[in-house]
Amino acid sequence: MLYIGVDLGTSAVKLLLMDGKGKIQNVVSREYPLFFPHPGWSEQRPQDWFSETMAGLKELLKDADRKQVAGLSFGGQMHGLVILDENDEVIRPAILWNDGRTYEECEYLNNVIGKEKLSAYTANISFTGFTAPKLLWVRNKEPENFARIRKIMLPKDYLAYRLTGVHCTDVSDASGMLLFDVKNRRWSKEMCEICHVKEEQLAKIYESYECVGCLKPEIAKELDLPETVKVAAGAGDNAAAAVGTGTVGNGSCNISLGTSGTVFISSEKFGVDRYNALHSFAHADGTYHLMGCMLSAASCNKWWMDEIIGTGDYGKEQQGIEKLGENHVYFLPYLMGERSPHNDPDARGTFVGMTMDTTRQDMTQAVLEGVAFALRDSLEVAKSLGIRIERTKICGGGAKSPLWRRIIANVLNLKVDIPESEEGPAMGGAMLAAVACGEYADVKEAAEKLVKVVDTVEPDPETAAKYEARYAQFKAIYPALKPVFALIK
Ligand code: XUL
Repeated sequence: MLYIGVDLGTSAVKLLLMDGKGKIQNVVSREYPLFFPHPGWSEQRPQDWFSETMAGLKELLKDADRKQVAGLSFGGQMHGLVILDENDEVIRPAILWNDGRTYEECEYLNNVIGKEKLSAYTANISFTGFTAPKLLWVRNKEPENFARIRKIMLPKDYLAYRLTGVHCTDVSDASGMLLFDVKNRRWSKEMCEICHVKEEQLAKIYESYECVGCLKPEIAKELDLPETVKVAAGAGDNAAAAVGTGTVGNGSCNISLGTSGTVFISSEKFGVDRYNALHSFAHADGTYHLMGCMLSAASCNKWWMDEIIGTGDYGKEQQGIEKLGENHVYFLPYLMGERSPHNDPDARGTFVGMTMDTTRQDMTQAVLEGVAFALRDSLEVAKSLGIRIERTKICGGGAKSPLWRRIIANVLNLKVDIPESEEGPAMGGAMLAAVACGEYADVKEAAEKLVKVVDTVEPDPETAAKYEARYAQFKAIYPALKPVFALIK
């Protein structure tokens, strides 16, 4: 049988077709626009997600034996607020995970309601990108839109709704809404009250690998697929990527180098760190995970290459970068503010330490290193909780760069395992569909049978020691600049 994984990303939707043995038959990608209507705001049109997904599915299946397609599922950008009215029309553009407009609503939630209560109700505190503060923002700033809301959904759930007609979500993605009681895997009545949300506006909750329904007849017809194709709930892109890289069970780690950068640690037990510095979310395999999320990771390199130095040849720019651990230029990768661990929407991207002999190459290197240092910030929080991590998987567009992988291995002092497919979330989506269709007993079995590691990048002790000293310097820069960021906002 064949399974489709849909990764609804921030720059594009990626679709992957996999057979039951994990062999990838086709991958296609289709871009859609991202809007920044104000500095620090970030929006997309859900209708674009759907039309590009439909076009992508047609392209994906062009040469496939469509009768063999048994299931479809998703990994999706998390936290985005999609609101529909009584006619199922999208009320306003979706407000995305990297949008920083809800500063005041977060202040209210964290400081008036209080972090302790939020953590007790949801296992998390409020970050500007989370969904609940966005609902409060719509209520405060666009009351006429708030009054029209009949359905609240997350980005990938909008696709599921259009494909199946079922208003559903899954536990991993719901975890990032701040409306969800992560420990008990159900909506939090207290948070719904605080955010003026009625439970009937929220989706029905599923485990990620559960079937929510089949394709609507008109969709099956348009795609020339059997009406029996099962749609599984899917997962937030990080949990889906973890499934796709085999990061399941206890204490496994995955780093995702996409538009965002995440350090994801799977855990069989539910747990929260004292300061809620890491997110505590449900995992797509039925367990839990901890996660640190930086808002701009591979997007920093894309910005530097495309917008600033004006090149499409990323590989060429990285050629000749060899002196790892010796760069005297630092880059703070906070182009959209920062989530983990600073929780500061005012933080900004910054180069520090240039001299007359600084080269373009030093600055390119600093961008790659700045992202690695910021990932290390999240790893340090995990270490401070007594979690021992010696190795990690890696996925996402940035993971294609051998140089960046080496920098990450040395800055984080971890062995970096490279899975055969770097299509983490799309692969994870297809695997969740395979589990929903009974091809595998559970997510763990699917991961054991389908994920293969093809290479490992080992840290070099001398380089890692050099980076240890550089990291200490990097860590000193943000606290020194924090008051400046507040001043220039
Ligand atoms: C995770 C997060 C990002 C998005 C990116 O908390 O906000 O990783 O899911 O798609």
